[in-house]
Amino acid sequence: MSAPRKLHIKSYGCQMNVYDAQRMVDTLAPEGFVETASVDDADLVILNTCHIREKASEKVYSELGRLRVAKDEAARHGRQMNIAVAGCVAQAEGEEIIRRAPVVDVVVGPQSYHNLPQLLARAKRDGRALDTEFPLEDKFSLLPQPKPAAIRARGVSAFVTVQEGCDKFCTFCVVPYTRGAEASRPVARITDDVRRLADNGVREITLIGQNVNAYHGEGPDGQPWPLGKLLHHLADVPGIARLRYSTSHPRDVDDSLLEAHRDLPALMPFVHLPVQSGSDRILAAMNRKHTADDYRRVIDRFRHARQDIAFTSDFIVGFPGEREEDFAATLALVTQIGYAGAYSFKYSPRPGTPAADMQEMVAAATMDERLARLQNLIDSQQHAFNKAAIGTTVDVLFERAARNPGQIVGRTAYLQPAHVMASEDLIGQVLPVTVASLERYSLLGALATPPGASPRGSQSPVLTGA
Ligand code: SAH
Ligand code: SF4
Ligand code: F3S
Repeated sequence: MSAPRKLHIKSYGCQMNVYDAQRMVDTLAPEGFVETASVDDADLVILNTCHIREKASEKVYSELGRLRVAKDEAARHGRQMNIAVAGCVAQAEGEEIIRRAPVVDVVVGPQSYHNLPQLLARAKRDGRALDTEFPLEDKFSLLPQPKPAAIRARGVSAFVTVQEGCDKFCTFCVVPYTRGAEASRPVARITDDVRRLADNGVREITLIGQNVNAYHGEGPDGQPWPLGKLLHHLADVPGIARLRYSTSHPRDVDDSLLEAHRDLPALMPFVHLPVQSGSDRILAAMNRKHTADDYRRVIDRFRHARQDIAFTSDFIVGFPGEREEDFAATLALVTQIGYAGAYSFKYSPRPGTPAADMQEMVAAATMDERLARLQNLIDSQQHAFNKAAIGTTVDVLFERAARNPGQIVGRTAYLQPAHVMASEDLIGQVLPVTVASLERYSLLGALATPPGASPRGSQSPVLTGA
């Protein structure tokens, strides 16, 4: 048998890219590729790129500059290194990458990476290969399944893509162009994936999609199922202790999702619900198709369904035409909702999107100043939220050994890292932890029950939360 070929993947951007990177590894495993942490000894380097903001896209070209040196160095030692660019920049600028960067052998978009083995073969034959098609067939049905050992190596928490693409066309956003039209996977396929993960030690599943609550995949009854119904179904898979989903859109929150939060203790009370702005004028210009009050009402409905629910969000500051009073409305919304955390970004014009042609660009200094004010407010809310955990007892899913010897680390329902002194045998279990203190973003505490006594979460699906 020939020696394994080494594959190095670098992923940028969202959770879906992290998931896609794993599936690329699964796709190339039958070709004899194993992952390596270092670029220098790799036979194949894949950059799995993100196009969402200018800074993210630019990283591709600077990284390719570095890879050219590594590729030349490998060639000097008689080794061939192949370079592939995947992900959303590949989709948006595939032809340009081929033109601008001779170092690149393969360009492959987010909907066609199941073709990687053929593309590598084609590049070997013809020099270069590009595939940025949106095939009619769902790529997931064409991908090889991960090996049990690969699942175990990835840990107790896993992503599963259930929905991909977006039809919403917010005026600032490239995703509808890079990921294509909204599409949902059938319930049966998702359930198979979740079973396989659970059979190999996974305890927590995060269902992912660009608009995950627009999910409408075909159910076993031949009908389209909403996300809430899918969550109910997956909560019954033996071994699954926790369910999450991301990213949801305020417009697609329906009763089925709220009922899932009301009825499923395994569904974590932590929701990422981006709003982008608190100003109705700006929301309209963004084509978000909801007002700030619509958003407030959605938040209220969630809170009504599940009292201990907490929220995170995304914000864009300095969207074209944003005035001080618009920004003040954003600050007012944040103050009113009270977030457990949030991401905020300076508006970045993206080629091909409607907002890129809008006039009235906000001055860079104003954007910086608004971003700082918003981030200060969010930081103080996040700190208060984390501090409130001190003195309480919370369920923690233990994920891995911590850096400090003897310590293990897991996550609370709200994804706060929690450290305790305990045996690594507890990894994979959900156990109550009494929180003693907060160190930056991490909770420090002790097991509330002595290990061994009633190991909650070791067998059947465990009901956590509240
Ligand atoms: N589907 C999700 C968002 C995906 S992109 C949703 O609808 O909310 C993740 C975040 O990046 C967005 O929520 C937005 O805050 C930010 N973003 C997207 N395009 C951007 C742009 N052109 N400039 C700055 N931030 C942007
Ligand atoms: Fe982008 Fe808007 Fe679609 Fe989210 S809903 S992916 S922000 S276009
Ligand atoms: Fe980036 Fe594409 Fe995700 S643009 S945020 S990697 S969908």
